[in-house]
Amino acid sequence: MAVTTDIYGKLESGTEVHVFTLTNANGVKAKIINWGCCLVSLEVPDSKGNFADIILGFDDIKKWAKNPPYFSAVIGRYANRIANGLFVIDDNEYSLAINNGPNSLHGGSVGFDKVLWNAMEIENGVELKHTSPDGDEGYPGKLDITVTYTLTEANELKINYKAITDKPTVVNMTNHSYFNLAGHNSGSMLDQIMQINASNYTPIDENLIPTGEIAAVTGTPLDFTSPAVIGDRIDDDFEQLKLAAGYDHNFVIDRQAPGLVLAATAIDSKSGRIMEVLTTEPGVQFYSANFLDGSDIGKGCFAYQRRYGFCLETQHFPDSPNQPQFPTVRLNPGETYDTTTVYKFSVTQ
Ligand code: GLA
Repeated sequence: MAVTTDIYGKLESGTEVHVFTLTNANGVKAKIINWGCCLVSLEVPDSKGNFADIILGFDDIKKWAKNPPYFSAVIGRYANRIANGLFVIDDNEYSLAINNGPNSLHGGSVGFDKVLWNAMEIENGVELKHTSPDGDEGYPGKLDITVTYTLTEANELKINYKAITDKPTVVNMTNHSYFNLAGHNSGSMLDQIMQINASNYTPIDENLIPTGEIAAVTGTPLDFTSPAVIGDRIDDDFEQLKLAAGYDHNFVIDRQAPGLVLAATAIDSKSGRIMEVLTTEPGVQFYSANFLDGSDIGKGCFAYQRRYGFCLETQHFPDSPNQPQFPTVRLNPGETYDTTTVYKFSVTQ
């Protein structure tokens, strides 16, 4: 495992952004920048040994600085939506920036995706730190965050997220990479196969906020308990798919105990690339890039159209601060938020 550091580019302010390159003995290569903690590329082999970069993204720091689709970024303080940007902790009401219809999405106007992190090489990876001050984007408590990306010789990219606070607060972090296992510039991912280890999901309303119900996937186009081609049912006449214009749902991962479990497996039959996602989190947002529209011109001047990638955002459930029946996202002083997600790559035989 080799780790190197280089200059990636300069922000408009003139500040330098660094890129950390992790390369294992098999040639798997992950590049992470300290702007937004973004995983800017991930090169993995197909069944013939040909490498492709399977992450949608940009070549230029000026584009990463704007990044409307949240490509590849670490999302915080709160991944996904909080209804009306409001929540209560211990009788105190907190009001967040509204940036998505009536809701607060992905941490507000300046989330963790739009800050420069302090980063350094560590064994087999990179460690990135950020301090979010008390009241940042409306959230209570000074939050000190450490994210590490490490790569193993078993072709696993691991992300660990840790945070501590000095006041009771809410935290829910994820990584927002868009994957296309045929290569970032290969077009639609609708022929790729998905399996999600979830018998239930959290249905949404017209603002994509959970209704509070935990519903069975059985008999619906959200049943990925057996492998299914992503595009086969995506446009079915099913209300939940109409509301989200495709898949954009939180799946409740089936688990017997805490710890790392397999959340999802994606396969591209043509290249033979397989990605398994394991996580300590209770949920995963399967998002089929319904909002991409070709306006994001990415690496190699490639225009990313609708459904050219998919996200598997491991997380606590959306709007949990307002849904007491969901697993808690509260973090108290003296506790450590500590979650891990692993993306493991292999090929079909
Ligand atoms: C998440 C949300 C989507 C969308 C994307 C970013 O996946 O669930 O609705 O907002 O982020 O475009």
